[in-house]
Amino acid sequence: LNLRITQNMTHAISPTLYGYMWEDINHSGDGGLYAELLQNRAFQSVIPKTGAALQGWQSVSGAFLTVTAGTSGVSSALPNSLQVSIPRTAKGPIGFANTGYWGINVQAGWTYTGSLYMKAPNYGGSVTVALASASGTVYDSATLYGISDTYKQYTFTFSPKTSAPDYNNLFTVTVDGASAAGETLYFGMFSLFPPTFRGRQNGLRMDLAQALFDTSPKLWRFPGGNNLEGHTWQERWKWNETIGPIENRPGRVGDWGYPNTDGLGLMEYLDWIEDLEAAPILGVWAGLSIGNYSDLPDWPTVPENELQPYVDDVINEIHFITDPEYSSEWANLRAEYGHPAPYNLTYIEVGNEDQFGPDSYQAYRWQMFVDGINASFPNLGLQFLATTPPSVALNPAYLKIDFHQYATPGWFYNASSMFDTYPRNGTQWFMGEYAVTGTEVGCELGTPSCGRLLYPTLEGACAEAAFMTGMERNSDVVFASAYAPSLQNINSVQWTPDIITFNAGRAVKSVSYYNQQQQLFATNLGTHVLATVPEPNPTTTPLYWVASHQATNNLVFLKVVNTGSADLVGNLFFDFPVVGGFGTAQQLSAGLYPIPGVYNISNTLEVPNAITPVASSFAIVDSNMFNYTFPQSSITVMTFAVD
Ligand code: AHR
Repeated sequence: LNLRITQNMTHAISPTLYGYMWEDINHSGDGGLYAELLQNRAFQSVIPKTGAALQGWQSVSGAFLTVTAGTSGVSSALPNSLQVSIPRTAKGPIGFANTGYWGINVQAGWTYTGSLYMKAPNYGGSVTVALASASGTVYDSATLYGISDTYKQYTFTFSPKTSAPDYNNLFTVTVDGASAAGETLYFGMFSLFPPTFRGRQNGLRMDLAQALFDTSPKLWRFPGGNNLEGHTWQERWKWNETIGPIENRPGRVGDWGYPNTDGLGLMEYLDWIEDLEAAPILGVWAGLSIGNYSDLPDWPTVPENELQPYVDDVINEIHFITDPEYSSEWANLRAEYGHPAPYNLTYIEVGNEDQFGPDSYQAYRWQMFVDGINASFPNLGLQFLATTPPSVALNPAYLKIDFHQYATPGWFYNASSMFDTYPRNGTQWFMGEYAVTGTEVGCELGTPSCGRLLYPTLEGACAEAAFMTGMERNSDVVFASAYAPSLQNINSVQWTPDIITFNAGRAVKSVSYYNQQQQLFATNLGTHVLATVPEPNPTTTPLYWVASHQATNNLVFLKVVNTGSADLVGNLFFDFPVVGGFGTAQQLSAGLYPIPGVYNISNTLEVPNAITPVASSFAIVDSNMFNYTFPQSSITVMTFAVD
């Protein structure tokens, strides 16, 4: 390939091009980014007296455990309690333990902040809480006194002197069996936090937050995805039940098979987005739940004459987020909860995947939300994202649309030029969820036996990167994009592949993570696209590229993807001199020993660094031209200083 990189700047690159799509899936939030260590901490959204209600809890030395709503709860939002019955024959320490989210990370030097509510009608003795290994090594403990017959909160800290060798650890709560024999104790709303990202209370797990932070995302779409929608209207994500003291948050069933605590709520998301210096894309529930897919006649999306209260609810949410300091009851509430200043908000996404309810979306749902919200906030400059296919004509006409694609590598590299012909008519595209999910057409969302990926692969990342060159080259119309989903707890997976995989203490960054986000695409982004002139015709080679110019420090970035199975030489010509006599490259590839034909290499928890970016520099003898070999299945980002 001969490739000329011209000085012709075709258009500015959208500063919000790379971001994240977020929802609680695969325990990405509870048991993931949200740093709370105790699973099922307040028995939210469980059915009392069932085994499932005890998820995460186990008896210690024969105490009988059950979840009950038959005693007054910690709060009206949290009616369920853990009832602990001590046998009359008890001796020695007896009680119960929480297993964490498939383990607890015990680290020397960390301070763990804990709390619980408890009461007992007839027991007035002490209660011991501890952080211990499953085999009984106690890392630290505390004794709580003063239990009475009404719920009170007790707080404690743990400061382990040694780190546990693994994550097979427990949070235990015990009493002396002889003193408590025959008694019943009740517990509710437990919490145990390790140190969090930036030390925020009720904050985020440090390693996961840092990994996301390191990618400099410019957008954060939340709270879903399907997890916005609920299985039913009633089970939708409700913003006002995710704010304030955690005792006020009832939690919800969630769309991905496990209860959500909503500890990671609206304000936690917005604080995090401020930490990222990103912009929120706020998904709002638009009258469609998962059970409504296809506008089923027997259970329609919310009918027109019942929709207004849901529009009003979003209007209240936007008041809560954006009202100037102390200007309204909503602003006062936000201040009471710790954030007097308004949050930034520009993008509102109306629904999620409303291609599953297009008729009502087109007939009235889109319009009622857009017009209703705009009428209440004429000066906020809000921008709305539609979620039907682009072909659905909407009134008012959409200016931004969110499109999702989970597909094979072939789809992605074949679609790398799809935006070259996108109409320049004022509308913009959000590639709001995308990933190579499988290798077989027709089985992209199937099982591993038909090619579904468990982790992102090198082949998949190369195909995604090929597609991304097309997005970046056309970022006048592609204003944003997000790989999806983001995180998976390896112990509770509903969707693969994901950009980061983790367990109770370790996280592994996938090839797609390195590609899209950190060292490569997102952080080597120019301010303007540079026109390139290829020869021969690009359709004859598996090379894909985009060039950009960074105006602030006069750098040129050239991103080249080789999706093929042979190394390919590029003869690169510059219309401007490269200064310094050298360029640098960061590259993802199979490395020194690629196995011909094997591209399904992944980073896994077992082999976390199979593929990581490798940095190099190379001499440019003639300042206007040089040759570079792009290895089979590789993604290369070159940087040059120019005059
Ligand atoms: O990312 C997983 C799911 O895929 C999202 O929840 C949904 O929007 C899409 O169908």
